[in-house]
Amino acid sequence: MGYIEMEHSFKRYQVGESEIIANNDVSFTIEKGELVVILGASGAGKSTVLNILGGMDTNSSGKVVIDQQDISHYDRKQLTAYRRNDVGFVFQFYNLVANLTALENVELAVEIVEDASDPATVLTDVGLAHRMHNFPAQLSGGEQQRVAIARAVAKNPKILLCDEPTGALDYHTGKQVLQILQDMSRKNGTTVVIVTHNVALAPIADRVIHMHDAKVKAIETNSIPRDIAELEW
Ligand SMILES: Nc1ncnc2c1ncn2[C@@H]1O[C@H](COP(=O)(O)OP(=O)(O)OP(=O)(O)O)[C@@H](O)[C@H]1O
Ligand SMILES: [Mg+2]
Repeated sequence: MGYIEMEHSFKRYQVGESEIIANNDVSFTIEKGELVVILGASGAGKSTVLNILGGMDTNSSGKVVIDQQDISHYDRKQLTAYRRNDVGFVFQFYNLVANLTALENVELAVEIVEDASDPATVLTDVGLAHRMHNFPAQLSGGEQQRVAIARAVAKNPKILLCDEPTGALDYHTGKQVLQILQDMSRKNGTTVVIVTHNVALAPIADRVIHMHDAKVKAIETNSIPRDIAELEW
């Protein structure tokens, strides 16, 4: 069995008289420590998958197994504990607390977690030792995103979920952020899932899940994922 298994997962929304199917019979497996890219056009159902994996949303039917636990049957309390301890989330627009420094942002996130890493150490790992005491507004977009990654990673999550993490960044800064995410998988053994519509990112992943029209259209595995440095788009 894989580390993460989504099995025949459906997500349906009732909008007035009509039903919208955001995920239509989605199935895939992810192994521990993999870097996975979920690729697809706008509206394909990517964020829906990510939010269900992260316990921020629940599916209508189907299994969602994370490290041998089927979270699709979790009640609210279990989901809260799951989100708190097991999931790191990185969003497109960083979502940092504006009146806290970089260090304080990470400290705040790990306060409620049992086995967290030292915030200053993790910020140093993402290259921000010299910016720790700055506020978000004093940091570049790439630096803010690295704080957001540090904040997610310091929890030592089972899975690191990233929704368009380079969507707001320029080309070079985006590459730096991807390098950190690839290193998290390769060096720390973190399972990283990146959602994007940028097909150029596919070669860096161990596994690529292609989504179209609420369905998984294809899954490919790269036996030799490309280094970010060689990537061009
Ligand atoms: N709360 C909701 N109510 C109704 N429909 C929804 C809701 N959330 C999402 N949808 C619909 O489900 C579909 C999939 O949405 P989702 O956000 O997963 O797409 P996405 O692949 O992440 O797109 P994007 O790249 O634009 O972020 C879309 O058609 C969307 O409009
Ligand atoms: Mg989305």
